[in-house]
Amino acid sequence: MIQVGPENSSEKIRLPKPNGQGKTSLEEAIRRRRTLRVFSEKELTQEQIGQLLWAAGGITETIDGAHFRTAPSAGATYPMELYAITPQGAFHYFSKGHALETVKTQDIRSLLSTATKRQGLAAKAPLCILICAVFERVTQKFGDRGIMYAHIEAGHIAQNIHLQAVALGLGSVPVGAFEDQKLKEILGLPPEQEPLYIIPIGYAQ
Ligand SMILES: Cc1cc2nc3c(=O)[nH]c(=O)nc-3n(C[C@H](O)[C@H](O)[C@H](O)COP(=O)(O)O)c2cc1C
Repeated sequence: MIQVGPENSSEKIRLPKPNGQGKTSLEEAIRRRRTLRVFSEKELTQEQIGQLLWAAGGITETIDGAHFRTAPSAGATYPMELYAITPQGAFHYFSKGHALETVKTQDIRSLLSTATKRQGLAAKAPLCILICAVFERVTQKFGDRGIMYAHIEAGHIAQNIHLQAVALGLGSVPVGAFEDQKLKEILGLPPEQEPLYIIPIGYAQ
């Protein structure tokens, strides 16, 4: 459960230090990963949410002031922005400092579900991670090919999340079927951020 800060403020919620040495082997996580679509209502801890966000976009090494992350990024341009949506609200993840900023203080999961062709997955899961791209960050360096690079990167990030979920005893579902504009409005996303992928996560029922 996230300890919520004031809506749309720059006040940071610091996440617990991520665990870099879990007990599940990589091979076991790969073997056990399957899409989970029916979730228990049991909420996730701040540690679990932080761990999943770290797997998605956490900083693992800093060399000469450059921060390298868990997932590869074309030209180290890092075009992604990540959001966590929980019963407590919606939160923007900051890799630097491994922290969150509060974007919404209401439970927007049912609303989110209306943007996902009413699949209901987002409404029931105790956590959804939303992956958004700021294409300009990567097209500045690579031109139009950068659009493809951003989509590839979203896949890297998503797979880290799915495997980390397994390692935490959780399940997840990749959701690609949603209405971009509706989702942007529900979250109040900045115009340059394009939603690419939603990943509902939770315990099996
Ligand atoms: C890019 C992508 C988009 C997907 N979108 C959805 C979706 O909108 N809703 C859903 O229920 N499953 C979605 N899935 C999950 C697939 O249906 C699922 O991965 C597939 O049935 C194989 O099952 P497995 O994940 O258990 O191996 C998506 C998967 C991918 C890779």
